[in-house]
Amino acid sequence: MTDLKERIAAQLTAVRDRSLGYTAAEDDLLVRQHSPLMSPLVWDLAHVGNYEELWVLRAAAGITPLRPEIDDIYDAFKTPRRDRPALPFLRPTEARDYIGGVRGRVLDVLDAVDLADPDPLRRDGFVFGLVIQHEHQHDETMLATLQLAGRPGVVRDGDLPPGLSAGPEEVYVPEGEFLMGTDSLPWAYDNERPAHRVDLPAYWIDRLPVGNAAYAAFIEDGGYHDARWWTPEGWRWRQENGVFAPLFWTRDGGAWWRTRFGRPEPVPMDEPVQHVCWYEADAYARWAGKRLPTEAEWEKACGWDAAAGRARPYPWGEQDPTPELANLGHRAARPAPLGAYPGGASPYGAEQMVGDVWEWTATWFDGYPGFRAFPYREYSEVFFGKEYRVLRGGSWAADPAAVRTTFRNWDYPIRRQIFTGFRCARTASPEER
Ligand SMILES: [Fe+2]
Repeated sequence: MTDLKERIAAQLTAVRDRSLGYTAAEDDLLVRQHSPLMSPLVWDLAHVGNYEELWVLRAAAGITPLRPEIDDIYDAFKTPRRDRPALPFLRPTEARDYIGGVRGRVLDVLDAVDLADPDPLRRDGFVFGLVIQHEHQHDETMLATLQLAGRPGVVRDGDLPPGLSAGPEEVYVPEGEFLMGTDSLPWAYDNERPAHRVDLPAYWIDRLPVGNAAYAAFIEDGGYHDARWWTPEGWRWRQENGVFAPLFWTRDGGAWWRTRFGRPEPVPMDEPVQHVCWYEADAYARWAGKRLPTEAEWEKACGWDAAAGRARPYPWGEQDPTPELANLGHRAARPAPLGAYPGGASPYGAEQMVGDVWEWTATWFDGYPGFRAFPYREYSEVFFGKEYRVLRGGSWAADPAAVRTTFRNWDYPIRRQIFTGFRCARTASPEER
């Protein structure tokens, strides 16, 4: 096997171990719906196997369908999450057998395939990258389900570095063009393509994500009770839902507590805030005299190397993520303290842009100029428009395989169960330029 094939095989094994680990629970937990926002866990599990069958076995290798009668059950577009408990989905043992059978054939295909084949599904192993990233993304979704279900079994005690770095509150990004998106990263999705020049005025962006202490100050300053800080839609959302703090936070006397996978604990004030929706992030930014960064501002601050005239795949450069550079891959089931990764800083000095928490941006999810859907419209294109806001950077629950400077995630502005925080930005004033 070539190096690339070995890497693909290792990643396929790693992601499947992860999925099976999250679903190593009693059947009742797996078939039950824990929130109308989420699928039953065993639906996610068989869905990743069905997706793998559709794309690797049928589309890339032309193999006869194994179980065509279940395709509709696992088509995410046919049944919204809230209605999935009523589907006749495979029960846990059958689901594990099915995805195991698919995987065995996928490994045979990998063994035989020519990764230099010009077919865009096979070239550089794109279709394998597609299913590996897809499964990791569902694993992160399963973790969100397990957080909603209050299951402590996934809390891990992996060491995270202490929050050490000192530095300015904001870093400066001078005006000028940068290259957004990519033409060259082989496993990048259609929505990250094509690379294109974007010209931005000078701006400041927070060196670090907004922390729990700063967010608590917003709450204690009456931020949730002052319509000035909120957009009209955000204010309506806040009032209708009676929200006064991030999801999973409660007030006990003078202290903030949170529930993390079912365990109550004091809110660590030195961590990035998570479980806030776009409306909350946007209101906080206004209260702080700033705004959310646009998606382009976020990406430039994360990866643009102006001296070299090119974009980096990670803020620190080309090197794959390590535990010293970013908090990814579910090592400890929480974000690392602010300032834990000075070595992971971007060329402009922004830290923790990758890992810890997804970050809301001001931008609606849409296609880049010259966008072409690949391999199917439903991956990205059907979500374009003014319904979803872009999230960037990846959380502690995201795997390195599905995180990079150009990676784009998106969700409704009301969503809070995802592992999401934010940082703020502001346009540089004329005197600051
Ligand atoms: Fe999916």
